[in-house]
Parts: sequence; structure tokens; C-alpha cells
Amino acid sequence: MGKKESLEDTAKVLGRMYDGIEYRGFAHSVVDDLAKFSGVPVWNGLTDDDHPTQVLADFLTAYEHLGKDFSEMKLAYVGDGRNNVANALMIGAAKVGMNYAVATPSSLNPAAELVDECRKWATENGSEILITADPFEAVKGADIIYTDIWCSMGEEDKIAERIELLKPYQVTKQLLESTGKNTIFEHCLPSFHDLNTSTAQMVYEKFGLKEMEVTDEVFRSPASVVFDEAENRMHTIKAVMVATLSDTLKF
Ligand code: NVA
Repeated sequence: MGKKESLEDTAKVLGRMYDGIEYRGFAHSVVDDLAKFSGVPVWNGLTDDDHPTQVLADFLTAYEHLGKDFSEMKLAYVGDGRNNVANALMIGAAKVGMNYAVATPSSLNPAAELVDECRKWATENGSEILITADPFEAVKGADIIYTDIWCSMGEEDKIAERIELLKPYQVTKQLLESTGKNTIFEHCLPSFHDLNTSTAQMVYEKFGLKEMEVTDEVFRSPASVVFDEAENRMHTIKAVMVATLSDTLKF
């Protein structure tokens, strides 16, 4: 998009043809421009900076498993602390008053402006945001441990440096058991927890790593609710569509 036709014009064309647009891509400005110019509801299905619809499914899944208010939950994210999913979780947690801790190397800290904005929302909603380099500090008392892949879409060439940085942030049984609680494990997927993908095979051959952001043991453990999250993507996006289309489609 934006190559032979401006994004503004494409947005207007799509708006004439569709009742809503879900955008999944890279630059966040694209989803903003589609929303600005198309005249129809636009849903962010994933950009470089944000993944809000994923978080709806994650929070619904946490609610189903933990059975308590978001204001009584703590979510600890361990890994690449400034990727789209980590940003979205921090925003979501701040908005619902959930405590949020992120364990990440300082070079992958979330952007300071975003943290400031989220801290304002969190304070209004009675929760806190902790940013630390220590995974064991972050997960203390956590109800949910969350991780995501170490190289997001478009960052595949950074694999060597990310392995170096993030190896100490792998979610292991020891980390999961250190919370002092019956903690659930969440992941947005896809996940490199075994060698059953060609990417994981390549990483194993080049770097000797059999698992990346989470061990296979944790991924397949009873604490893991990752496929409930996957199913809840469907239910939550339908809810968002109903909420945002009901005015224009009159139902
Ligand atoms: N951070 C990941 C999320 C995938 C759902 C990525 O951008 O690839």
C-alpha cells in the first residue's frame, strides 16, 4: 500500500466496498490512516507497535481461568519488552487496572513515552507498572506469566542478537514455580517451544538452541492456556465487530 496509490485513496476505495476493515501488517500509521480515511470501522489485527485485539483474548482467557477481577490480577511479561504484544498488554493492563510487570533487558525496554502514558492510566485505575531486567523479580506474585517470540514479524534478521539478549528470559518451569502461586502461562502464538518448525530447526542448527522463549515443558504443562487464548481470539473479535458495526448495519 502507498506505492501506486496513496493510502488515503486506498482507504476511501475500501470504505466504499466493505463494512469494516481489519488490518494486519507492519507500520502502525497504516491502521491509523485507514481509520481516518475509510469511513468504516477499522480493527487493528497487529502492527509493529500494537496488538490490541490479541489482548482482549488474553484477558478473557485469564478471567475464565482465574475467576477474579482484573484489578486483582498481576501479569508478568518476560522477554522482548517493547514488541507489539508487550506494548498492547501494558496498555490493556493499565486500562483495566491490572498490575503489570515486564522483565526485559534495558535495550528492549518499552518506549518511555508509552510507559508514562500507561502509568497515568494505571494510577487512575489503581494498578502499577514495573519494569525490571530481573525475570524472578517480575514474576513474584504473578497470576499470569506471558511471553512472545524473540523476533517479531520483519525482525527475522535479528535472531543472533536476540538469542544473546533474551536467553536468560526463557520461561522455564523454575520461573513458573517461583511465583508462589498457581500461575497460568499465556502466549499469543506462534511459539518456538520445540523443533517442529523449519525456523526452529534452522535456529537449532545455527545456535544449538532446542527451545526459545518458553520451554516445551511449560508450553505443554497444565498451567499453559495458550490454545484457550487462540480460541478466544475468535469470540473476542466477533464481540468487537458486533460492538462497532451495530450502528452502521442497524442490528
Ligand atoms: N510479536 C509477534 C506477534 C505475533 C502474533 C509478531 O509480531 O510476530
